[in-house]
Amino acid sequence: MSRPLRVLLGISGGIAAYKSAELVRLLRKGGHEVRCALTRSAVSFVTPLTLEVLSGQRVYQEEYLAATGSGEEEHITAAAWGEVLCVAPATTHVLARLALGLGDDFLTTTALAFAGPLVVAPAMHSEMWRKEATQQHVETLRRRGVWFAGPVEGPLASGEVGMGRMAEPEEIARVIAAAAGGGPLAGRTVLVTAGPTHEPVDPVRFLGNRSSGRMGFALAAEAARRGARTILVAGPVELAAPPGVIRIDVTTAREMERAVHEHAAEADLIVMAAAVADFRPRQAAERKIKKEQGLPAIELAENPDILAGLRAVAPRAVLVGFAAETHDLERNARTKLERKGADFLVANDVSRSDIAFGSGDNEVTVYRREGEPVFLSRRPKSELAASLFDLFAARLFR
Ligand code: C5P
Repeated sequence: MSRPLRVLLGISGGIAAYKSAELVRLLRKGGHEVRCALTRSAVSFVTPLTLEVLSGQRVYQEEYLAATGSGEEEHITAAAWGEVLCVAPATTHVLARLALGLGDDFLTTTALAFAGPLVVAPAMHSEMWRKEATQQHVETLRRRGVWFAGPVEGPLASGEVGMGRMAEPEEIARVIAAAAGGGPLAGRTVLVTAGPTHEPVDPVRFLGNRSSGRMGFALAAEAARRGARTILVAGPVELAAPPGVIRIDVTTAREMERAVHEHAAEADLIVMAAAVADFRPRQAAERKIKKEQGLPAIELAENPDILAGLRAVAPRAVLVGFAAETHDLERNARTKLERKGADFLVANDVSRSDIAFGSGDNEVTVYRREGEPVFLSRRPKSELAASLFDLFAARLFR
């Protein structure tokens, strides 16, 4: 359990607001102090009295502030009091206001005045969640390092089943604790790359590989869970960013290199889990290559080796490479550890279909600059990420 926190809980007007009462109860049970702020429309879904009794604190409401005339300062006091601000449920309207920096009620002015970590638990109909406008605001918030708890797939208020259901209170409480930091990597910056790169052949085709990005995403999630400021440079993958992670999407190896170089100097630990394409077509055709033109000859050019070039950019960072091998695992891994100047080289066997590429599990051997190799037997990638971070962290704190 995390240390006791002062949690500001913003509740906006959606049917999931009834679950916020449960969230308050859960947080209190965990030893945290909670102060609730209700938007005008939230009052239609959950009563201030319920929250006042559960939290043991006066509830912030628009009407209350208007009546006392204390609206001017109250949001500043509340913002200074809280260590974490969580908005659950967060309607699409609140997400938009947070993304745009609008301050037109108690909750949003408090959010503007608040300097700590922000957690949001969106809840809405799947059509509203999918809407481009909503997704753009979500993207803006994620880029700013806002922590997302959910939404998840499941039954919606409309009776349909789909994406947009609020995360369960237990999950929201867990994200609140993670966002409050205090984890072993608090104050550290971790940069992770994940997924494949796509190298365009023409406007519709590319050279790529079967990396799903799951190992890298699991590593980024673990870094954030341990309290690190986490930057995830992701190739083209179909995965949601883990809570609290700053995500930068790229497509090609050269874009990935630019993004990594931009942030490498800030990083204490760089984990290159991406399966970067070694080659790209020298020149992508401007128009789609047609069959009638005969068999195309595609000339290849070498991509930059991002990892091998990192020592110069990040002299003090702990560097971790991954090696996907189909044969001679040990010899290839040891050579790469040397040649790329890495501190760790995590080797996995991609000739097996039960682990590595595309699988939920992995089994690896970690070769180290200092110390004997460590074998980590087959387990889910999230668990493996935790074991790997134990090794990396030991090196980081040496
Ligand atoms: O040489 P190979 O691709 O097997 O090395 C794998 C490691 O090197 C991975 O950590 C990968 O992210 C990194 N790499 C890179 N730039 C490349 C190729 C690989 O950073 N062009």
